Amino acid sequence: MDRNLALEFVRVTEAAALGSAKWMGLGNEKAADQAAVDYMRRAFSAISFEGTVVIGEGERDEAPMLYIGEKIGKGGGPKLDIAIDPLEGTTLTAQGRANAISVVAAAPSGHFLNAPDTYMKKIAVGPNAVGAIDINASVKDNIKSVAKKLGRDIEEITVVILDRERHAGIINEVREAGARICLIQDGDVAAAVATAFPSDSGIEMLIGIGGAPEGVLAAAALKCLGGDMQGQLKPRNEEEVQRAHKMGIKNMDKIFTINELAKGDDIMFAATGVTNGSFLKGVRLTAEGAITHSIVMRSKTGTIRYIEAHHKFSRKPVY
Ligand code: FBP
Repeated sequence: MDRNLALEFVRVTEAAALGSAKWMGLGNEKAADQAAVDYMRRAFSAISFEGTVVIGEGERDEAPMLYIGEKIGKGGGPKLDIAIDPLEGTTLTAQGRANAISVVAAAPSGHFLNAPDTYMKKIAVGPNAVGAIDINASVKDNIKSVAKKLGRDIEEITVVILDRERHAGIINEVREAGARICLIQDGDVAAAVATAFPSDSGIEMLIGIGGAPEGVLAAAALKCLGGDMQGQLKPRNEEEVQRAHKMGIKNMDKIFTINELAKGDDIMFAATGVTNGSFLKGVRLTAEGAITHSIVMRSKTGTIRYIEAHHKFSRKPVY
């Protein structure tokens, strides 16, 4: 993938973040999400590439824009599969809470798992704990193994978990193991990324069940960061099982490795903060326009770039 394209994709997450940030704290989830989608869609059409949305806003009949299978981009450049979450943390944004981001990942055709819109059980760690996780092992054994790999005591390990009733068992197991817990309201893509920056985030592992599309995005990010992840689909009903079958996944018990979620070493990941978060600042509105804070990285080189952009609306209107 052309490395300059990665920088082009930051414009896409910046646009979505600028669009949705206008709705921060206004209590309107739908409007915040719609703005992110509209702005992202428009920004994509200014980039010379032939994109196909593989992780998107939903299936064609339920999402008018950025649906799975939609062709995006100005055309004329490389053919790429695109995974997006224009607003990861819709409720967080509507409530003005921390950790909402806008996310895009890109890869050559066929390199992302075509994950259906269902749940996925996930376990993720940063680069220093690669090889220490096993989704089939108990929570306690995983924590022990990660602590050993990191050369830390179990009491020094913090596990990030989505605050959901379905996680009551996992939460108990983590407590019994003696590790610490960080419960989050939403946003397990940002939480997975946080495991790669433990000295900033204070988080060493992610465990729990969240969205399957978010699982692919997290895997793309961790691939660039050199981390590790495993996932297993957890459909909620027969319809979701059928949806997975339709997307080519026959074995619902299959454990997907990070390389099956995001294959190869030509992955690109970009994210822009919408609200303040553990690794990105949120959009700041200024007298002249706005300031955005983004991260962009490629798995090929492992280079991590932070981009602070000062947008001047008088010269380049965004809204
Ligand atoms: P949105 O992008 O829809 O706001 O998703 C937020 C999120 O918390 C994800 O990070 C997570 O994977 C998923 O929702 C969890 O789903 P649920 O809220 O149904 O537990």
